[in-house]
Amino acid sequence: MSHPIDLAVIGGSGLYQFPGLENATRQSIDTPYGPASGDVVVGDFVSRRIAFLARHGESHTLPPHRVNYRANMWALHHLGARRVVGVNAVGGIRHDMGPRAIVVPDQIIDYTHGRYTSFCDVEGAEVKHIDFSEPYTASLRAALVEASKRAGIAVIDGGCYGATQGPRLETRAEIARMKRDGCDLVGMTGMPEAALARELELDYACLALVANFAAGCGDEAEISIEEIFAHLAAATAAVPPILAEVLKS
Ligand code: HPA
Repeated sequence: MSHPIDLAVIGGSGLYQFPGLENATRQSIDTPYGPASGDVVVGDFVSRRIAFLARHGESHTLPPHRVNYRANMWALHHLGARRVVGVNAVGGIRHDMGPRAIVVPDQIIDYTHGRYTSFCDVEGAEVKHIDFSEPYTASLRAALVEASKRAGIAVIDGGCYGATQGPRLETRAEIARMKRDGCDLVGMTGMPEAALARELELDYACLALVANFAAGCGDEAEISIEEIFAHLAAATAAVPPILAEVLKS
């Protein structure tokens, strides 16, 4: 089979359908790891084939710690995807990463627990130690950054994504610790997704959409969940034009 998919996209909070997909078909994929978050929708976008999967389900029924990351990545790989962009809602820790900023991170620290983090923990599976010094694929990161420039959309190139367990937001002390650790962003879904993509030798990069300042980083005493979704809706509008430029190049 030639590569039928030019790009796979995993939509996060606020991105449950990919707008403007033509000739779309839904594929329900049986995986050895159980059900994916839902059907993969395959369709044409700017005359290229894309595969779209809503990470939390199309009605946002799966919290971050219950997403079947292995099934999702396996399904996209099985369909023939070779590169995957994860769209992730995040909180901004760094002062220039406020609400509606878009970041293409280049590093990760994983604070999650109790998730299946590898394809290697199935009986009889080959044990594979992957290099993860650079957790995102440099060429795909660069393609996202260049595409954003062509689309006239400001993105921040680089930053460290701290992956937390969720679904609750963090305490101020947790964010202060993450800041000391070197995290610039905080989100609940960046891991193990990135590591699983690497195990399958898929190109993978993240478009992080900042929904709020993380706890203690903004002026407000509390974080409003309504505001998170309002900022996310605004930032999400930038995703199709950026990906259109990635696909055209
Ligand atoms: N923390 C963790 N995940 C998030 C946040 C946050 O503040 N905002 C959006 N996703």
